[in-house]
Amino acid sequence: MSNGFETLAIHAGQEPDPLTGAVVPPIYATSTYKQDGVGGLRSGYEYSRSANPTRTALEEALAAVEGGARGLAFASGLAAEDTLLRTVCKPQDHVIIPNDAYGGTYRLFAKVNERWDLHYDPVPLHDLDAVAAAMTQKTKIVWVETPTNPLLGIADIAALAQLAHDNGSLLVVDNTFASPYLQQPLSLGADVVVHSTTKYVGGHSDVVGGALIAADRGLGEELAYHQNAIGAVAGPFDAWLTLRGLKTLGVRMDRHCDNAERIVHLLLAHPRVTGVLYPGLPEHAGHEVAVKQMKRFGGMVSFRVAGGEAEAVAVCDRAKLFTLGESLGGVESLIEHPGRMTHASAAGSPLEVPADLVRLSVGIETVDDLLADLTQALG
Ligand SMILES: Cc1ncc(COP(=O)(O)O)c(C=O)c1O
Repeated sequence: MSNGFETLAIHAGQEPDPLTGAVVPPIYATSTYKQDGVGGLRSGYEYSRSANPTRTALEEALAAVEGGARGLAFASGLAAEDTLLRTVCKPQDHVIIPNDAYGGTYRLFAKVNERWDLHYDPVPLHDLDAVAAAMTQKTKIVWVETPTNPLLGIADIAALAQLAHDNGSLLVVDNTFASPYLQQPLSLGADVVVHSTTKYVGGHSDVVGGALIAADRGLGEELAYHQNAIGAVAGPFDAWLTLRGLKTLGVRMDRHCDNAERIVHLLLAHPRVTGVLYPGLPEHAGHEVAVKQMKRFGGMVSFRVAGGEAEAVAVCDRAKLFTLGESLGGVESLIEHPGRMTHASAAGSPLEVPADLVRLSVGIETVDDLLADLTQALG
């Protein structure tokens, strides 16, 4: 089989059903499987926490589109992250995290895993000297988000992989914002890719899920062991929806990018917008690195408004076609105030986000309608 991105997304792990020829992998709504005599498993299936054919189809497709040895699907992005940390780290280990990590990831480190004596340091990942200085003998993971949520910061995956490996650490990349269509961290030297498949991979705001994709088969096996042992797996219905979303990721991402570029253009020219954060802009601090490692620059756009927090909240409230809501990556456009919504859990921490910031998840609606709504919302 040829291995273009869209071909893999549509076919990898998704051979027509041998029994009926169904071209779509069925939803195997079953918890258990008849054994042909004790220990006589058919195709390796015994219990659906351990493995389920619908989940297997998704896991194989995810591994293929990220270019990894093993893909694993979880009940949510955070469940995937937690399983990864509990597989790789033990008490007193250390992890470097982005100083503008997604708020939920930060909370997992600061409020959950710190109680189990897993140490972490938030570091600006664009500053390679700062990353090198923060590393210790105990650093097990350098955790990267690029682009970051919600400030759209860019980190150099290849350079960070080199730094991490020189220190005997793993490089983990949360690829949620870019999606595997725009960026493939394993090909740049990362060891594990993390996804909230809730976002672009699922793409339709109808399912919560997460994924890990490991470059190395051995680490993939360890992660699979912990996936089963901890149990935060994706159910078959969720795996099926996510797989359906994955098939159209390429065409959706291109339209997300087209629409985002038009919106960035509008925001740049607007007198009440004081700053536009988008890695596609030549003046963005991470633009050169983004050009090197991304195909295009994605559907997420953040901007700052004159008038501070009150005005940022008012813009969100006035938007109509842009739905006021958390999450991102679906076909419909969303608007939110990160300080009070997605990143409220980072308030008062070093990861607190600016109060005048508005974040857009630009959907794939008719772009002129999006431009008109944003124009009226900006007032
Ligand atoms: C970049 C990023 N990583 C991880 C997560 C967590 O994923 P989930 O909400 O599926 O648990 C999110 C959720 O917003 C996210 O934006």
